[in-house]
Formats: sequence, structure tokens, C-alpha cells
Amino acid sequence: MHFFTYKGNELYAEDVPVRTLAATYGTPLYIYSAATLQRHFNAYDEAFAGFPHIICYALKANTNGAVLRLLAKQGSGADIVSGGELYRALRAGISPKKIVYAGVGKTDDEIRLALSKKILMFNVESEDELRAIDRVAGTMRVKAPISLRINPDIDAQTHPYISTGMKEHKFGISIDNALKNYRLAMSLRNIEVVGVQKHIGSQITKIRPYVDAMERILLLFDELNRKKFDIRYLDIGGGLGISYLDEKPPVPADLAKKLLPLVDGRKLTLIMEPGRSIVGNAGVLVTKTLYLKKGEGKEFVIVDAGMNDLMRPSLYDAYHHIVPVVRRKRATIIADIVGPICESGDFLAKKRKLEKVSQGEYLAVMSAGAYGMSMSSTYNSRPRIAEVMVHGSDHGLVRSRETYGDLVRNEITPKFLK
Ligand code: LLP
Repeated sequence: MHFFTYKGNELYAEDVPVRTLAATYGTPLYIYSAATLQRHFNAYDEAFAGFPHIICYALKANTNGAVLRLLAKQGSGADIVSGGELYRALRAGISPKKIVYAGVGKTDDEIRLALSKKILMFNVESEDELRAIDRVAGTMRVKAPISLRINPDIDAQTHPYISTGMKEHKFGISIDNALKNYRLAMSLRNIEVVGVQKHIGSQITKIRPYVDAMERILLLFDELNRKKFDIRYLDIGGGLGISYLDEKPPVPADLAKKLLPLVDGRKLTLIMEPGRSIVGNAGVLVTKTLYLKKGEGKEFVIVDAGMNDLMRPSLYDAYHHIVPVVRRKRATIIADIVGPICESGDFLAKKRKLEKVSQGEYLAVMSAGAYGMSMSSTYNSRPRIAEVMVHGSDHGLVRSRETYGDLVRNEITPKFLK
């Protein structure tokens, strides 16, 4: 559910016409709906209300400070993968006691920073990393709270690039080596074992992989506690899909209904790391039609947003609905919707049925709130685009459009070229 809907023929973001926002702030433009973000967060919080839980929003999906502040106010924690994400989470007022830190390549500096901020736990992905955390914690004379990220060897049945829970993936510690690594963790002086974590992939649209992975992880959880480990946190990762085309993914309530009976009776706090299912449908990308072009046997709609602004179609062949901001009764065309970048891979949609739009008209790329702006770049020296948040009939910039000056801000001319 989201709050980008047509009123008559005009697309609205909550109570504001998208056309007004595009005209006010320019295009390309990311628009986020505060009510949608709140609704999605609350859907998780309410579904799991009967059981101790922490929702750690996965920052990587969208790191805008306003998005983070809004979620922090709702009580969200954070799943982070870098020192930069830790900085952003804390800056937005997310409590360090609700921050979990994943990622296969944490550096000493990042580990030190996270320890100094006293985060809830590190989700450790290898034996080497475990030893590194122990060493850094030792130099700081603190104990590092950790969980091991266990790879349960479950097929998440999603795009291969965003599937992470099988043996061949670089993530986590294989379930067969789990006990050995927990024993090692226990033997390290500056490590405190507190949890188990798993995350099997992203844009998961079925409930079965969650149930299978949970059953496997619970076997390990019980075995560890029988062996006198004190495992308090069970972190089930993120990955719940959203509807881009016509998928009907489970909602948090479906997940709770299946998973809570499995953990019932155990003394633990459940942690979830949703990203896309919180922010994905809470954002759209608005772009302007620059030119219409008839190619060899096909039509192109050339728009002002490119693969640098929204990379998902180029990178994963991902589908996003693209709709006119003002609908009209008119003929339809089949066209490739492409950006201005110098690559054939620069497209937002291929062979898409669309109203015969005119030059200068606005289009909305739907479900662009997750992995849109956060994966954007300045390729082709295109400054990063502006972001706006709507709250009822209120709206404002939450990140201004970058300038040409921003593009070169950190560049240095060496002496020999002066
Ligand atoms: N936790 C961990 C450890 C993760 O690696 C991820 C996502 C999440 C949580 C959040 O997953 P979500 O709930 O958003 O599915 N760029 C890709 C998605 C990459 C996901 C990476 N990890 C895309 O645009 O589809």
C-alpha cells in the first residue's frame, strides 16, 4: 500500500499533485511519501507486537536523512554495512542500542568506530573478521557483542544478484561450520556472543524460504543454548519483496503469522532488517520527456532521468511501472524509455506500452524509493538529483539538487599542472 494515487487523471503524492512538485523542484526528482513510510514501518511493528522485537531498517535501501529521522521517530533501529551508514544512522537519531552491523569487509577503523558508539551487535561474516573484531576490541579494552551470520543454504528464489543465502555466496558462515565458529568466538577474550543472524536474499516474494531458513536456524539456536551459549538475539535479516509488476509478496502480518509460532516459548528478541519493504513503494522518480524518436522498427521516449539516477533496470533488468503524471485518453505506443547517458544499457523500460506522451510531459517511475537514490552516481557528470518529502499537503526538499561545483568539489590540481 502506498499514497501515490490518481485523483481523476492526475497523479498525487498524498495530497499534492506530482505535477506541482515537478514544476516546483524540477526534474528528475525523487519524491517520498511520509505517510507510506510510517504505514510500512507500523505494519512490521504491529505484526510482531506480541513478541520482543527490534526492527532495524536496512539503510542501504535509502539513506536520506529525512527518511531516517522519520523512521527513528517511529522507534526504528538500523542495519548498517559501513562506517558511513553508522554515521548517518546516529546523525538521524537512531539509538546505537538498536544498530546491527553486517558486511563481509569491515575495516579496523569501522570496527573501532562501531565499538566506540556501543552498537547492539556485529553480524560477523567470517573467522578472520571475528579475530579482527577481537583484536580491535582488545586494544580498546572493551568486549564486542557479536552474532554470527549463518548461511542456511536456502534458495530465496529471487534474482541471482540479490540472492545471498546459498553455499556458493560470499556471505556468512556455512551452517556446517557454525558450531566450530561459535566455539572460537567463545574462546576469544574480547568477544561476547549474543546472537545468530541470517539473511537469504532480497525481493523475496514467497514465504516458504523464510520458514525453511527459520527452521534451520532454530535448530542451531537450540543447540547453542543447550551448549550454554547465551544467545539472546535471533536476527532474521530482511528481504521481503514488494509489488513492482504484479507480484503478491507476503506482508509483515503474513510473516509474523508463520514465524511467531516457530519461535514461541523461546527467550529471545527477534530482529528484522527490512529495507525495500519499508521504503520501496514510498518513493517515485519523476522524469520529463525530452524527445520522441522513431528508431529502426521501434520508438524511443527519451527522458531526463538516466541509469545513473535509477540503476535497477540496467543492472538487474528490473521492472518499474512508468505512468504519465497526467493521464489522458489517447493512443498508446510501444516504446523503449531511455535516458541521456552514452550507453545502450541506459534504459528505464524496454518495449513498454505507454500512452502516446508528448515532449515536455512528466512521467513517474513507480516503486523507486528503495535502491534508487542510494545506488545513484554522477556518471556522465550528471549531478545527483533532488529529493522531496511529502507529508499530507506539506512538502519540502530533503536533499537539494547537486551543482556542477559539487561534481569537482574534492578534486585537487597537482602543483605540476598549475
Ligand atoms: N540485511 C542484509 C544483511 C542485507 O544484505 C540486505 C540487503 C538487507 C538486510 C535488506 O534487504 P531488503 O529488505 O531491502 O530486501 N540493490 C538491490 C538489492 C540489494 C540488497 C542487498 N542487501 C536491488 O535494487 O534490488
